[in-house]
Amino acid sequence: MPQMPKNVIKGGKEDLTQVLKDPKLFRTDAYIDGKWTQSSDGNTFKVFNKATQAELGTVPDMSAADTRKAIDAAAAALPAWREQSAKSRQDLLTKLFISLQDNAEDLAKIIVAENGKSLTEAKGEIAYSNGFIEWFAAEATRTYGHTVPAPLPGVRNVVIKQPIGVCGLITPWNFPAAMITRKLGPALAAGCTVVIKAPAETPYSALAIIELAERVGVPKGVINVVTCNKGEREAAVGKELCENSTVRKISFTGSTRVGKILMSQCAGSLKKLSFELGGNAPFIVFGDADLDKAVDGAIAGKFRGSGQTCICANRIYVHESVYAEFASKLAAKVDKFKVGYGMDEGVTHGPLVNQAGVDKVSQHVEQSVKGGAQVLVGGKRGEGLFYEPTVLSDLPDKVPMDDEETFGPLAAIYKFSSEEEVLKKVNDVPVGLAGYFYSKDVARCWRFAEKLEVGMVGVNAAIISQAVVPFGGIKESGFGREGGRDGILEYLVDKLMVFGV
Ligand code: SIN
Repeated sequence: MPQMPKNVIKGGKEDLTQVLKDPKLFRTDAYIDGKWTQSSDGNTFKVFNKATQAELGTVPDMSAADTRKAIDAAAAALPAWREQSAKSRQDLLTKLFISLQDNAEDLAKIIVAENGKSLTEAKGEIAYSNGFIEWFAAEATRTYGHTVPAPLPGVRNVVIKQPIGVCGLITPWNFPAAMITRKLGPALAAGCTVVIKAPAETPYSALAIIELAERVGVPKGVINVVTCNKGEREAAVGKELCENSTVRKISFTGSTRVGKILMSQCAGSLKKLSFELGGNAPFIVFGDADLDKAVDGAIAGKFRGSGQTCICANRIYVHESVYAEFASKLAAKVDKFKVGYGMDEGVTHGPLVNQAGVDKVSQHVEQSVKGGAQVLVGGKRGEGLFYEPTVLSDLPDKVPMDDEETFGPLAAIYKFSSEEEVLKKVNDVPVGLAGYFYSKDVARCWRFAEKLEVGMVGVNAAIISQAVVPFGGIKESGFGREGGRDGILEYLVDKLMVFGV
């Protein structure tokens, strides 16, 4: 059995400033127009350590009216910011990158406390997160336009790229830092100003990043952060960002269900959208795969963030010829996990972020087992928000994972007999974010990678996320790409200038 935590839940209050080298990074106010600010009605809500359930502090529970102030501040800051040279924005983002790197350890500790992932994973997230600022600092000076030879006499065509304007950035709790920088980096590099809606579960990472942005001299109003609790306030803030016509673009990472609501709210003002939504990633192991590499890939691709990422493998399909061997090797590795509070020595995996997440994993396990699935490892709730990392084999015909993401530490191993059969099954879902497969057959690698209906494929690879490549999905996993060469284009619009000569 994986080692599970005992007596981790302490409750009470935790003073995060005691564990930070720079206690001032722990900011507990929202940030509007260059000022650390409360909500206009003084409402706040509490944020908890997901492992110990100690109260970390409070943040303002802001309203639609507060959001409007943030939007107005971003609009007021826009003309000067977009007029700065691309080089000066590049220099500022480079300063921010250096400052983020200098404070990496503290930023990782904030993630451990508010999200629950292990310190090793949190440090990995900060490296990933800071990479977006580094990458887009460089991209700021590469927003090339082009000229087009005209078919008409006496005409010259020039296309330039311009910042789209005020952007609303709505980010999730599973990568409290990286999902902010992935949007903030290209927006600022392009010359846009932003209003960030920080996730209720993990607002402190966003606020720490903004503290550093303020210190390096990002002008007031260029970045604004609104905090709000789940429920009515969150819905109102999201609606304001989507319906306010001053906001010209929304970049959202979250569920397909919420993505559809936001998209309809944006219709009235026809905003440009980038949506990175839910997935149901297949992970396929062919009979000719290097099994040890495939097992390592499944561990990395399934259990990253305790299974709480949009690209985590949700359905693991293994060829019948290697099914038993793969299942027992995977189970043996999961058995060695050490689950606990991410700051504790040797902890590999943390808790889930909320009770709804734990309940969902539990339901997926229970329904599968009721249908006849075998539990190879795990299968039970732990204390608080912990759930045992679980491996299920011999799945019955119908299990919840066929249709929805578990978003938790459950590896469900399906059996298949032929390439055609597995391709049909894995593509038969309405979403298509990421997919992975392992095979040594080169022809199959090309063929299968091209036919998988997803935006990103790992071929004998399960860690695919990098700042330098495009991240995004197809079908109901959304549209637009973040990171990579074209990530900045999401924040720019083309302007054609036709010159008569
Ligand atoms: C996500 O879960 O939404 C992002 C995952 C990643 O960037 O790797």
